[in-house]
This record gives sequence, structure tokens and C-alpha cells, in this order.
Amino acid sequence: MRIAVPAETQGAETRVAATPETVRKFKGLGAEVVIETGAGKASGITDAEYEGAGATIAKTAAEALAGAAIVLKVRRPGEGEIAGLPAGALVVATMDPYGNEAQVEALAKANVAAFAMEFMPRITRAQVMDVLSSQANLAGYRAVIDAAAEYGRALPMMMTAAGTVPAAKIFVMGVGVAGLQAIATARRLGAIVTATDVRPATKEQVESLGAKFLAVEDEEFKQAQTAGGYAKEMSKEYQAKQAELTASHIAKQDIVITTALIPGRPAPKLISAAMVESMKPGSVIVDLAVERGGNCELAKAGEVVTTDNGVKIVGHLNVPGRLPATSSSLYAKNLYAFVETLIDKAEKKLAVNWDDELVKATALTKDGAVIHPNFAPKA
Ligand code: NAI
Repeated sequence: MRIAVPAETQGAETRVAATPETVRKFKGLGAEVVIETGAGKASGITDAEYEGAGATIAKTAAEALAGAAIVLKVRRPGEGEIAGLPAGALVVATMDPYGNEAQVEALAKANVAAFAMEFMPRITRAQVMDVLSSQANLAGYRAVIDAAAEYGRALPMMMTAAGTVPAAKIFVMGVGVAGLQAIATARRLGAIVTATDVRPATKEQVESLGAKFLAVEDEEFKQAQTAGGYAKEMSKEYQAKQAELTASHIAKQDIVITTALIPGRPAPKLISAAMVESMKPGSVIVDLAVERGGNCELAKAGEVVTTDNGVKIVGHLNVPGRLPATSSSLYAKNLYAFVETLIDKAEKKLAVNWDDELVKATALTKDGAVIHPNFAPKA
């Protein structure tokens, strides 16, 4: 049973789908692991370290993929990569299938079984496989570090002989996995932190981290969380009340970090151009929702914009990839935890239980067809 880890080819992806630690574990399951040369370079992992863990280094992607039963990736294989995938192999990655239906179809045509890690159900058994959480947590941390780097002042209060430096005020909008880590990180750096969300459950979480909660707590707010734990899209009336409440608050902030998302919808617009205009020169906004349209009207994907009134709006793409060593380490462990369930340990061979709820939730393609209910052709 051969496991292949080709180098990432899309964009400036810095992460890698296996680490020496997971290579050792796969070897322990009786697998042979082949890594394409340089695959770990951007994450600070050398070929020699992979070899030390028992992997073989392949000179090219084609050599790595030859005869593989399982292919591990960070991103969905690109058009140029699909032809090289061995027929019948399992391909495990973040597949980003929405809006990319043609590519899902191409994976089916290549006769591989493609698994989308981001569809992993958020149930106790699968927590260790939850790539959205492992990566969002790091994005929340990095957002504060990026904000601190762009901000021309110190974050903690400092009492020095030359005078007192006030603590920075940081407002976190959207308190899911990323937002909670942003609050914790901002607190550790000594900022005065406030936060908002539309889900009532977040109030206690915010307060338990030592931050102050601010939200329109009306009847709609009480119903805003879906059974799945996510936010609903709020009514126009609620959005107007929310904007009114947050506008005067944003004007007084030094840093605003936005992380608000609604599953299957564009990111809610929470910061208007007028709100940006109300902020002091030197203030910083970090928009973590920029890949889904952005929470800030003026954010630009992949750019740091400075407005006429001197506010910096940070819109980095692939924020987890800005901490490649840590994000690869956690992502690789997520993959290992899932792939381990697809292997018969006694026989040392693939044994996918297609009735397992984790497999059903994540499998996009199988035996030449698109099988996921959200993408399969309607009967
Ligand atoms: P997400 O990335 O979908 O959204 C981020 C945050 O934005 C959410 O807290 C959401 O309520 C908020 N938001 C949406 N619209 C907003 C608006 N108009 N204004 C302000 N905030 C807005 O969320 P994420 O991080 O994926 O977490 C979703 C849920 O899943 C949470 O309840 C979290 O605790 C839960 N979760 C459960 C896990 C498990 O049980 N294994 C693992 C990870 C998360």
C-alpha cells in the first residue's frame, strides 16, 4: 500500500499534507510513503527529514504518484495533475468543490475516489480530523500577529519613565473558531478586547476569555444559531440595528479583526466604507473573510490597502499558510486520523467502509462517478 505526497502546485500554497511525524505513523500501519522532492520545503521540512522518518523521495510528481493507493494533498489536484493520478486511488485534500463542479467531474472521470476534508462532520469522533478548525484556529492567531505588525504602536499598556503607552483596543467580529483564538491572542498581547457575534452561545465564550461582548440581543439573535451550530443570514432589519450599534464602537477601535461567515452564503458585510472613514489614522482592519467576499467593504483579496484617511485593511489570502510549519503539522495529523480509518491494520491494505458516516459525508467521487449528494447529477 503506497501513499504519495506530491508537492503542492496551486498558487503560493506553503503547506504540505504529510510531516515526518505522520510518515512514521503511516509506516507503522504498514504503508510505503513516497514524497515528491521539495514538497515540505516551504514548511521547513527537508527531504532528509522525510527520509529519516522512513519515506522515499521521488524526483517528480509522476514518480511519487506511480502505483499510489492513496494521494494526500492540501489542495484539490489541479488540471495538470489529474492525468497523473493512478486510477482507483483515494485522493484526500481540501477539495473546495462549490463553484468547481467541473473539476469534481474531472476527478470522477480520472476514476479516483476524492475526499473533501472540509466536509468532515463536526461530531466528537471526527474532531481530530477537523481541518476547518485546525486551520481557522491558526488563522485567528495569525490575524492578530499580522494586525500587530501593521499597527505602528504597541499593543499592551506600558508604563515607562518616558511616559505611559495606552493599551490598544481590539474588536473581533465573528466569534467562531478563528474569532475565539483572535480574542485569546489579543488578550495575551495585552490589548483591551471586545467582540461581537449573532449566535447567543458566543456571549459566554467571549466573557470567559476576558473580553467584553457587544451585540444586538433581540428575538432574532436568540434564534440565530442553526442546529448545526452555525449562523443564519440575518434580516435586513437586524443588519441595520447591528450596524448602528457597531458603528460608534468601530470608530473608537485601534484594530478590528473580522471572521464572520455564513455557510453557503457570501460573507456578511459588517464594515462599511463610512465606518472605515470614521477610524483614526494608523488603525488596522484584518479581514479573514476576504476569500468569501470579505466582511469589510473596502478589503481587497490578497492585498494590504491603505485608505486616504490612513487606515490599513489587511486582506491576506491563505492565512493559515502564513504559518506553514504549524498549519502543516496540524493538517497532516487531521489527514492521518481520517486515513487511518480507511485502512485494515491487520491486512495492511485499504478497506474503505462506504457506509461510515465520515466517508459518506466527505466522498465526492467513486468508480468514475460523482457520488456526493450535493454534487451528484439529480435523478
Ligand atoms: P464560521 O467560520 O462559519 O463563522 C465564523 C463566525 O461568524 C461564527 O461564530 C458566526 O456565528 C459568525 N457570524 C456569522 N454572521 C455574522 C454576523 N452577521 N455578525 C457577526 N458574526 C457573524 O464558524 P466556525 O468557526 O466554523 O464555527 C461554527 C460553529 O461550529 C461554532 O458553534 C463552533 O463552536 C462549532 N464547532 C464545533 C466543533 C465540533 O463540535 N467538533 C468544531 C469546531 C467548531
